[in-house]
Amino acid sequence: MEIQTRIKLGQFYKYTLLSLVMFCIGCLLAYQIVGIRSFKKPVPAFINTRILVDPSSPRTLLKKYQSTNGDFQSVSNNNHTYVYSAYLEERQDKIRVVGITLNTTSSLYCILWYMDKTNAVNSRLVTGYVLVLPESHEHKYSAAFIICYLKGNEVPDAVSIIENTVVTKPENLIPVVRPPDKSIIKQNFTVCLSPIHNGYKNTDELIEWLEILQLQGVSRVVAYLHDASHNVISVLKFYHSIGLVIILPWTLPKHLCNQTMKNLHYCGQMAALNDCVYRNKGHSHFVASFDIDELIIPQRPEDYTWVDMLKRLPNKSVYGFRNTFFFPSQHTTRSTETMETNLRISSNLFRGDFIYGPGDRSKWIVRTDSVVTIGIHFAWALTNDHVYTVPTDMGLLHHYRKDEVKYPEGVNVRREKHTETEKYNKQLEFQVTYIRKQFLNYKKSN
Ligand SMILES: *[C@@H]1O[C@H](CO)[C@@H](O)[C@H](O)[C@H]1NC(C)=O
Ligand SMILES: *[C@@H]1O[C@H](CO)[C@@H](O)[C@H](O)[C@H]1NC(C)=O
Ligand SMILES: *[C@@H]1O[C@H](CO)[C@@H](O)[C@H](O)[C@H]1NC(C)=O
Ligand SMILES: *[C@@H]1O[C@H](CO)[C@@H](O)[C@H](O)[C@H]1NC(C)=O
Ligand SMILES: *[C@@H]1O[C@H](CO)[C@@H](O)[C@H](O)[C@H]1NC(C)=O
Repeated sequence: MEIQTRIKLGQFYKYTLLSLVMFCIGCLLAYQIVGIRSFKKPVPAFINTRILVDPSSPRTLLKKYQSTNGDFQSVSNNNHTYVYSAYLEERQDKIRVVGITLNTTSSLYCILWYMDKTNAVNSRLVTGYVLVLPESHEHKYSAAFIICYLKGNEVPDAVSIIENTVVTKPENLIPVVRPPDKSIIKQNFTVCLSPIHNGYKNTDELIEWLEILQLQGVSRVVAYLHDASHNVISVLKFYHSIGLVIILPWTLPKHLCNQTMKNLHYCGQMAALNDCVYRNKGHSHFVASFDIDELIIPQRPEDYTWVDMLKRLPNKSVYGFRNTFFFPSQHTTRSTETMETNLRISSNLFRGDFIYGPGDRSKWIVRTDSVVTIGIHFAWALTNDHVYTVPTDMGLLHHYRKDEVKYPEGVNVRREKHTETEKYNKQLEFQVTYIRKQFLNYKKSN
């Protein structure tokens, strides 16, 4: 009897221990991969090394930074880590730095700079915990968050990321962006455009895309610019001048962003998207991201804007839109109206009758303040679990392709006519014609 109980107890302990170990491994994984940090906050580790920096240099660096529109800065001359931006968390307990680093980097150091009005500069050195972001596709470099924990209520004005505790002159200095007052939210929808690269040059496509977004209720587009044709840059600048587009430089060295893209997935798309989410917290109720060859289209004829569509859906944090491919209509019967502008949405009215599953090529609209880590096709970490896949008769991701598409093996895809975008034709036609004229005038005077 006693022995049996002991065995049972032994088994009980064994299983409890096993579950505990599994749970811990799970937590560790979640912690490592996704950046969930709710269960235990590491104690800020303040390091007792004196910072040997000339206190005037942070001011000089900050001035230099402020004269630009922000961009990547290197952490040291070994090309291991590049940093882009720094955000104060709403709870004011940590700074989140967005960057690109070798996929093996596990920790760095943060110098927190406190500049007071009397011109004095104080500093503090803390550990920078590196959270390598997912979707690196096993490349050598990955997007990452570097987390610098704060102690007390003081918020630093700027932060430098360094590799070694002894440093004479940091290579970088990033101003800390504070979340704005909640009451000032101005935008309903902001669209984040992944790094434009490889000399992108299709101005007609870009103008049509930006115009249809506005018809759908988008009031802001954040464009990360690596490289594009002269004309595309002019178009972006034109839209900047009328208050729609914010252009952010995305100057990565050649080994991280060129045609091969072998060292870093898609020129650091994950870093850009996560920067965009944090940049828009407190500024835009929702952010969305998809490429210039994609559009989120409400499928009900009476739904014109995204607000019309979202009003029908439950109140969630992530709305996932499933992907379907559209192709040029074989015999486009061009009306005299579409003759001149030849809009993509009115000349690509055939779609494959296959709709990809949730998370597979899908794109999203998210409630900005609920996101911790965003991914390209879905959210990796949220402050809640309010994820929703939009029914395909309410909203779809239209993905425009000129060529054949390789569908998953075994699926038999036929093309069918799909005319849900026709509701935009007239207004879009008008807008595009108008904007092209405006743009020509803008180009003449700039
Ligand atoms: C770092 O990259 C630059 C080009 O961006 C290159 O010239 C330099 O040799 C690299 N340094 C190291 C240590 O790899
Ligand atoms: C890190 O990069 C190396 C190539 O340098 C690659 O072989 C490895 O799979 C990557 N690791 C991860 C976790 O992506
Ligand atoms: C946001 O949406 C509301 C409701 O549809 C609308 O009244 C408001 O004008 C929109 N704001 C912007 C900046 O588009
Ligand atoms: C392009 O990037 C790859 C690594 O992704 C690198 O090996 C190659 O040297 C780069 N090409 C140029 C022209 O810099
Ligand atoms: C939807 O939920 C968010 C929080 O997740 C809340 O702030 C917002 O007010 C809700 N909207 C409506 C219409 O209930």
